Amino acid sequence: MSHRLLLLPGDGIGPEVIAKVERLIAWFNGKGMRFEIERELVGGTAYDAHGTPVTEAAMKKALDADAVLFGAVGGPKWASAPYDKRPEAALLRLRKDLGLFANLRPALCFDALKDSSALKPEIVSGLDILIVRELTGGVYFGEPRGITTLPDGTRRAVDTQVYTTGEIHRIARVAFELARKRRNKVASAEKHNVMTSGLLWKEEVTKLHAAEFKDVELTHILADNCAMQLVRNPKQFDVIVTDNLFGDVLSDEAAMLTGSIGMLPSASLGNREAKTGKQRALYEPIHGSAPDIAGKGVANPLAAILSFAMCLRYSFAMTREADLVERAVGQILDNGYRTRDIMQAGKREVGSHEMGSAVIAALDKITA
Ligand code: IPM
Ligand code: MG
Repeated sequence: MSHRLLLLPGDGIGPEVIAKVERLIAWFNGKGMRFEIERELVGGTAYDAHGTPVTEAAMKKALDADAVLFGAVGGPKWASAPYDKRPEAALLRLRKDLGLFANLRPALCFDALKDSSALKPEIVSGLDILIVRELTGGVYFGEPRGITTLPDGTRRAVDTQVYTTGEIHRIARVAFELARKRRNKVASAEKHNVMTSGLLWKEEVTKLHAAEFKDVELTHILADNCAMQLVRNPKQFDVIVTDNLFGDVLSDEAAMLTGSIGMLPSASLGNREAKTGKQRALYEPIHGSAPDIAGKGVANPLAAILSFAMCLRYSFAMTREADLVERAVGQILDNGYRTRDIMQAGKREVGSHEMGSAVIAALDKITA
């Protein structure tokens, strides 16, 4: 059976890092796997070519694919594109139309990089937390929204934070189930002290926990306190489950703890259809398009490569292969390979291409 992948490299450094993932895919195909690749433009490059950040044809391919591998979108070039045609709109549409409600953002501190963190090494060494961010609801999609002009000529903007019990239960369930495979702890972050959606979130997470997940340790934490605790003592956390907006902010913060945002992958998953077993999924490095270094050959491809490892693990249940990729990445870091973003004194600075080659060489060695 072949696995159909849609590559959406996007803007900025997206195409460079996805190109390294393609080499990895070719390596696995050389080992007898059957990944089939299609490609589409997305984001600003799609806007330039087609006048829209994601075409209907690309959406259809994304809906049909077994998994989508996404690079990054956005950049100053498109700062004045119409709001509904901005590069980011493509990502939001993909999330919504594919039903990718569960966003998994691991923040893992590689031992070799613990000195690159802005925090003291002892605070981050061995750090392994997972942020489970709700991705298709909340203020990102809530209605009503928009800017209106009032009779006196001033303007008024509205965004709506909204959650239903169903949306809360399904994301909390993902968090509890993942926690069971880790250190069995979930912290649920919201602002029930000021938001009714936070109150509902807390009550519904509590109910689900009592009904189905009593074996998992659950704590509730206010999102602002969570932000503070993440820099004070991040290792107290295992899984953090939170809404779309708090998850956006907390996951950037957690990423920074690890020393390099250039290292971190993510997975966005939909429901598994009971009948077919199919689960829509999109994998993306969390670093974004980094227009300042695009095209210079210095981007760190490891987050994209680790996103492909997540794809192997979650979309294709290829645990062994996923472990293999993660091990190869760990080894080349131990061997001193560094792209510019994670460069340290005494280490060997390499470009994106050489880093990609090092991963392949490490895979060859491990599997020899
Ligand atoms: C992210 C990004 C996106 C978000 C942007 C690009 C729309 O910041 O994936 O975290 O806000 O969700
Ligand atoms: Mg973000």
